[in-house]
Amino acid sequence: MHRAKTGFLNKDGIRIHPSEDFAGMRAAGQLTAESLDMIAEFVKVGVTTGELDARIQAFIEDAGAVSATIGYRGYEHASCISINHVVCHGIPGSKVLKDGDILNIDVTCILDSWFGDSSRMYVAGKLSRRDERLIEVTHETLMLGIAAVKPGNTFGDIGAAIQAHAEGNRMTVVRDFCGHGLGQVFHSAPNVLHYGRAGSGAVLEEGMFFTIEPMINLGKPFTKVLADGWTAVTKDKKNTAQFEHSIGVTADGCEIFTLSPTGKFYPTW
Ligand code: MF3
Ligand code: CO
Ligand code: CO
Repeated sequence: MHRAKTGFLNKDGIRIHPSEDFAGMRAAGQLTAESLDMIAEFVKVGVTTGELDARIQAFIEDAGAVSATIGYRGYEHASCISINHVVCHGIPGSKVLKDGDILNIDVTCILDSWFGDSSRMYVAGKLSRRDERLIEVTHETLMLGIAAVKPGNTFGDIGAAIQAHAEGNRMTVVRDFCGHGLGQVFHSAPNVLHYGRAGSGAVLEEGMFFTIEPMINLGKPFTKVLADGWTAVTKDKKNTAQFEHSIGVTADGCEIFTLSPTGKFYPTW
């Protein structure tokens, strides 16, 4: 059944949701987080990314939800699995995980018309010190970006917090992909940049729903998309990492919809 979108668009074209909408986002976000928790024990040397994707798809469908990515602009999988120098939108398939691979798994579920979108890093085999540091700093950038979220702050405050921490650790922020509004749609205004100037951009208001999903590189920030039309890689082939949460702005901060119910958001927790 068609359901009218709730809330209203503010002067920047960003949807402001009523407080009742948080429950739907919380449920969709929790299912997304559960799928990312579930897959953790299967990420091992020797497994294919296609096997991981099939498990995620089955988990989502068994829960009575649907994958937002299957059928999205021709994409055919329930997850994006991005290994080593793949920045995002890695396509699951016959690729076999090998010792020392780091990978991002990104899942978006639709539950009862609400979207939950989250990604985390995983490790196959032994983690190198360099990649451990990359993952740690990337996770910290996401949490620092989230810490900047409260009514009256701006989207520029989020980007500035992320950029300062990445560059302060001699890493770089990918400019070619950004976070996004979501709710009863997958991608909506605003573009949530992971770099920028404090105080710039639209003002945050209670009832906004969006993702923050910084991609942080060990080398230069530049990316290119491979001939498959999806896989984005670092141009210099150095490793990259990403974490993503879906959040809602509250009266005094934000609610993270996609927190791990078992506390496994970070790979070594
Ligand atoms: N989940 C991704 C995001 O964070 C989008 C993936 S679209 C796909 O916005 F088609 F590549 F799956
Ligand atoms: Co997203
Ligand atoms: Co995502």
